This record gives sequence, C-alpha cells and structure tokens, in this order.
Amino acid sequence: MYTNKALQHFKKPKNMGRIENPDAIGEVGNVICGDVMKIYLKIGKNKSGQEIIKDIKFETYGCVAAIATSSVLTELAKGKTLDQALKIDNQTIINALGNLPAIKIHCSVLAANALAEAIYNYFTKNNREIPEFLKQKHASSLRATQREHLPARLANASSKRAGRQK
Ligand code: FES
Repeated sequence: MYTNKALQHFKKPKNMGRIENPDAIGEVGNVICGDVMKIYLKIGKNKSGQEIIKDIKFETYGCVAAIATSSVLTELAKGKTLDQALKIDNQTIINALGNLPAIKIHCSVLAANALAEAIYNYFTKNNREIPEFLKQKHASSLRATQREHLPARLANASSKRAGRQK
C-alpha cells in the first residue's frame, strides 16, 4: 500500500521535465522491471562558494513508486551541496515518502542511483576526482542498465509518465 505522500508525488510530481543545457545528466534503468529514470542538474554556488544543486528535474518512465521517488528526490536534492546530495540514499527517499511497499524498495534505489549518476557525470565532465564509492556505484548502475534500450524509452518518459501503473 502506498502512503498518501507517495500518491501525492505520483499524481502531482514536482520538478518533472528537462533542463535545457544541463550541467549534468544521470541516466539509469532496471533491466528486470524495465523502468528508466533520467535526472538533469544545473549547478550553482551558495554564499560560501560551495557548489550546490541549483535546479534539478527528472524524466521517468515507470511505476507509481518510480515517479514518486523521482519527484521526492528532486525536492530532497534541490539546494544541497554535492556532498550533501551524495548522502541521499534510498532510505532517505523512503523516509521522505513515509514508506514504500517492500516490493517497491528497488524503485527508491533506482532514484538514488540516478542522482549519483548525475553527480558522477558532473565530476567527469569537469575533471574532478571521483570518490571511490561513487565509482563503484557508477559501475553497478551500468551493470543494472541495458543502456541500448534506454534512449527509446526515455523519449517517451515525459508523455507517458502515468502510462503504466503497477
Ligand atoms: S522502478 Fe522497477 S517497478 Fe518501480
């Protein structure tokens, strides 16, 4: 059973769509359920000069939980420093939604991995040193994703957001 909070995020997702000229993109998929997520980031700086997530949007083709976790993830990550954002794990996402059915836990993992992939992409593009744990996360996201199937599905991600409910 979904919580009211999860259903609200599914029915009225926050920050859905694309960012034009993003500073980074994270793209992940799950070959078992076939769901895909794409996270767009715009990076800015806070008053202390630290890099923060100035803007974040998502495109997700997937289940109720995939949409809800993507949406709440964007709320959790917006305004955070990159270090803080990297600490958002799937349990943080589940807590923010109140809970998730056990069979939907992997959806929250996918959302956390999508954000990690976007930050990995930002570090790579800007020749930053990539922490070991992030390298390992990236490698496991690659293994979990059949990347050749993603582009076609992501093309439909916005228009078919609510196309599949399970
Ligand atoms: S992400 Fe796989 S069923 Fe939701």
